[in-house]
Amino acid sequence: MHEHQTLLSALAGKLVVFEGPDGSGKTTQFSRFSELCAKGGLGVTEVREPGGTGIGEAIRNLLLAHDHGDMTLRCEMLLYMASRAQLVEQTIRPALAQNHLVLADRYVTSTIAYQGAGGGLPEDEILDVARAATGGLEPDMVVIFDVDESTASCRRSAEPDRIEARPGDFRDRVRRGYLEQAKRWPDNHLVIDAMCDADGVFDRLISGLTERFCPKARKTGS
Ligand code: TYD
Repeated sequence: MHEHQTLLSALAGKLVVFEGPDGSGKTTQFSRFSELCAKGGLGVTEVREPGGTGIGEAIRNLLLAHDHGDMTLRCEMLLYMASRAQLVEQTIRPALAQNHLVLADRYVTSTIAYQGAGGGLPEDEILDVARAATGGLEPDMVVIFDVDESTASCRRSAEPDRIEARPGDFRDRVRRGYLEQAKRWPDNHLVIDAMCDADGVFDRLISGLTERFCPKARKTGS
């Protein structure tokens, strides 16, 4: 039996979102976790935002290119949501219906952190649009990889996209925006301290998910 079989069985048909500031190491953890699930025989559908569909990738290019410096914050928020609307209907809902684990690289949490806490858009407006865009589909778990700004800046790419190029105080607000969401909705948010090396973060991820999805298995050690 696979070492993490109890956890993997509990994840079938669930929507799990990986979140974190740019440079949090989220993408590395995403690949490792997806590989572990697939090796354990769990059907996994990976999605990333913005993008993940033909239409979504076109929207991604609009959002992240440097030649749209005049894009308003509301336009930006709606484009992220438009990409998400297509992804939910075209990919996420069908995959959940097949009992796959849907592993999402960002979801509504990012919009609240970046366009809300970072940019200043009222959160209730974002939540209203999110309900319309997703048809009310909420994640079973949002995993937030938390790092401080100096660690994140060391991990970020040398060629920042339009959002990554924003100043340090924007990034501080984004981080706080993440942590506030985790505090407000503790039932489906899990914060992982991602300051250590990738192996250490991965261990924390597995034990955090096991604690949340199969607390009994953890207590009895089975
Ligand atoms: P990407 O290259 O996918 O970054 P990462 O690998 O860190 O996920 O770029 C996505 C960028 O878009 C990232 O800076 C976060 C930002 N973003 C928002 O501002 N709002 C959103 O709703 C989403 C999904 C992403």
